[in-house]
Amino acid sequence: MKNKNADSKKPKKEEKNDLDNWSPSSWRNHLIKQAPSYEDQEDLQRVEQKLSSYPPLIFAKEVDLLKTKLQKVALGEAFILQGGDCAESFSRFSADSIRDFYKLILQMSIILGFSSQKEIIKLGRIAGQFAKPRSQDFEEKEGIKLPIFRGDMINSLDFNPSGRKHDPQRMLQAYHQSTATLNLLRAFSKGGMADFHLFAQYILDFAQSHPLAQRYKTLANQISQALCFAQSCGINLETMSNFCEFFTSHEALLLHYEEALCRTDSLSQQFYDCSAHFLWIGERTLSSPAHLEFIRGIQNPKGLKVSTRTPINELLKALDLLNPSNQKGEIALIIRMGEEGIQTRLPPLIQSIQQHKKEVIWMSDPMHGNTMTKNGIKTRQFSSIINELAHFFSITREFGVYAGGVHLEMTGEDVTECIGGSITQEGLQKNYITQCDPRLNATQSLDLAFWLADQFEVFI
Ligand code: PEP
Ligand code: CO
Repeated sequence: MKNKNADSKKPKKEEKNDLDNWSPSSWRNHLIKQAPSYEDQEDLQRVEQKLSSYPPLIFAKEVDLLKTKLQKVALGEAFILQGGDCAESFSRFSADSIRDFYKLILQMSIILGFSSQKEIIKLGRIAGQFAKPRSQDFEEKEGIKLPIFRGDMINSLDFNPSGRKHDPQRMLQAYHQSTATLNLLRAFSKGGMADFHLFAQYILDFAQSHPLAQRYKTLANQISQALCFAQSCGINLETMSNFCEFFTSHEALLLHYEEALCRTDSLSQQFYDCSAHFLWIGERTLSSPAHLEFIRGIQNPKGLKVSTRTPINELLKALDLLNPSNQKGEIALIIRMGEEGIQTRLPPLIQSIQQHKKEVIWMSDPMHGNTMTKNGIKTRQFSSIINELAHFFSITREFGVYAGGVHLEMTGEDVTECIGGSITQEGLQKNYITQCDPRLNATQSLDLAFWLADQFEVFI
């Protein structure tokens, strides 16, 4: 069946949330935004069939486990640390970068867990974060106009006609890269890195001489000593390996891929999107009926990005559709309003959600509302990121709602993409390698984690 294009046709009348009318492919009957245009429909169908016959990447039980953890967040007993690349890359795929990212997210969790005394839920933007929504359909360079880059799962960054062609085969490569990534992450979290004696050694090589590394090592050594003491008192630390538990997430943008990875749970007969544990709808696709239709039928917990442009009435309608029984821990609102916008737009949003008694987890994405271009380079100021977070914590506290998590673009690689710390505007080009938006590097991420830790002491 062909997709309808939302930009050219009027939306259909709203449908009630009735899962009898839902199937993994029912999104195809709805208007869609941000969809690729594949020339070869037969090739697309072959790829979709292959993907639907492949093993799931994650399992229903793991999704259910994450849901119970998110219910704890909804009760104010746990905190979500979600982060990773803006766009994963085929060409920069390597075991080292996965390891370094995993080490970084563990270090940040140690810092956050110690200060908040709460469980930190580690949710990677990884093993599936390959498709990007874009503001423009085309890019023009020196008089040549080509389709915009939409993520490695759809086309290539290379600026030539064959690179920019939308190619369904790329979904297969994304699937295989995701399986290999998950395989390594599972190995790390089950054994390789789950030993608390090693926590102090997780400092990445390039960050060794940074003052924050010393602060981290001191903290990790204190924790290690306390745990050795607990062990010597006969306390069983076997469940410590839960600390390294890791979940995956990405934007549910390319619905051909998401549909092909839907599976029915044999016990409950319910549908799970087995491409990741947690899926989110981006800022640009909350107004795409096909995306809402797809995501309403899957059992996975979901995120909705919210910007200053998001109409509150549309958001409320989406909450009715996606969580009709208003259960706790099902939906996270990921606020990305920018350091200015958040001050005036978050208070009325919280009030409206409170008035309508909607159950949501409040998260902050302090990255996407603070993107700017300096000398042709897309960047973000570390100070703006921190300012937005500071407003997020103080506004949520003022309105009596729990600040349940952060959503970051970050990497364990020693990149120079955001301005702050030792990175100046002039130094951005030194190691600017992101495929899409600028990410925090390891020391900037640690800096942010210590800043959050100080907040926890004040707010939590
Ligand atoms: C993203 O998370 O990379 C993204 C594009 O975010 P948003 O939908 O909030 O713009
Ligand atoms: Co991004």
